[in-house]
Amino acid sequence: MPFPRFGDVPPSASGRSRHDPLLGAAEVVVSGVWGLASRIRRPPPVPERDRTHALRVVDRHVVAHDQDVVALTLAAADAKPLPRWFPGAHIDINLPSGRVRQYSLNGDPAVRDSYRIAVRRIPGGGGGSIEVHDQLTVGATVTTSGPRNAFPLSMPGRGSPTQRFRFIAGGIGITPILPMLRRAQQLDIDWSMVYAGRTPNSLPFLEEVSRYGSRVEIRTDDIHGLPTADDLLGGCPDGTAVYACGPAPMLTGVRSRLAGRDNVELHFERFAAPPVVDGRGFSVCIASTGKVVDVGAEETLLSALQRSGVPASYSCQQGFCGTCRTRVLGGDVDHRDTLLTDPERNAGTMLVCVSRAPEGERLTLDL
Ligand code: FES
Repeated sequence: MPFPRFGDVPPSASGRSRHDPLLGAAEVVVSGVWGLASRIRRPPPVPERDRTHALRVVDRHVVAHDQDVVALTLAAADAKPLPRWFPGAHIDINLPSGRVRQYSLNGDPAVRDSYRIAVRRIPGGGGGSIEVHDQLTVGATVTTSGPRNAFPLSMPGRGSPTQRFRFIAGGIGITPILPMLRRAQQLDIDWSMVYAGRTPNSLPFLEEVSRYGSRVEIRTDDIHGLPTADDLLGGCPDGTAVYACGPAPMLTGVRSRLAGRDNVELHFERFAAPPVVDGRGFSVCIASTGKVVDVGAEETLLSALQRSGVPASYSCQQGFCGTCRTRVLGGDVDHRDTLLTDPERNAGTMLVCVSRAPEGERLTLDL
């Protein structure tokens, strides 16, 4: 069944690169699934454009009571209007260290001269969030690319056969959802949301969300206990489009609960690496040093490299941004991304954040 196009969808709604013309990464970033088992709605491929911009931090403030989340407002360094974006979009930020990180745009899409992002400080993470917190002060300039949209919003009655939205946000997962709430409200579409987290103090943008009143349920583990999938879905009658962003266990529970619901649409976005599925142990040899790194069945190659002190660039950790692209000098690769073309794979390129090797195989990496 063809789905109608929604006139407000931008020409680059998918925001995918040319190699991933679909919403892509149905499993890794976002899936729009009608009943989880049938069609995935995908806009047509669009040509890539250079969307690199120098942005300056023009405002910065704390947006969670625990002080761990900062919102940054970024304006074009040349003061020109910025590319248009739509709810669900993100930008790639090239940090001073060379790290690339992706952050959802969470401000108002109607504001054309700045973007707003929010970043939770994660001690012990990959260092990107610490860098943002410590170095991106007002006046700092960063290079960005995008916006791209891997989590587009299909409007009930316009781009979607559903009648209502159910938004599910876990902690910092509120960031892509915020513009969606604004859009649903503007278009007078029936919607509700559950916003979950550890404690009220850990929830960013609590005041901004609270202005939507009874449409939003705030649930925190310290007061209500861990939410079940039913708590998160809130009944979820037939004809609901669910948009969820949060930690992996939350998304896994929601997906499992909706299995077999042919009349409920699920769209989700992860902000962490997906769990390894059907992994087998293998090893890699680092060509520059001869070092051998064993990769466990349940860990990614990227995490094994990090654990072993082998530097490897990364960003999304989900196989769609291409930052971890690595040349393979020997061995068979079990490609699990949706980004690389067959010619690229045949030429010996892999994405170490998601792709692996068959059991017992040893890859030689050009690192
Ligand atoms: S880190 Fe983005 S594709 Fe691997």
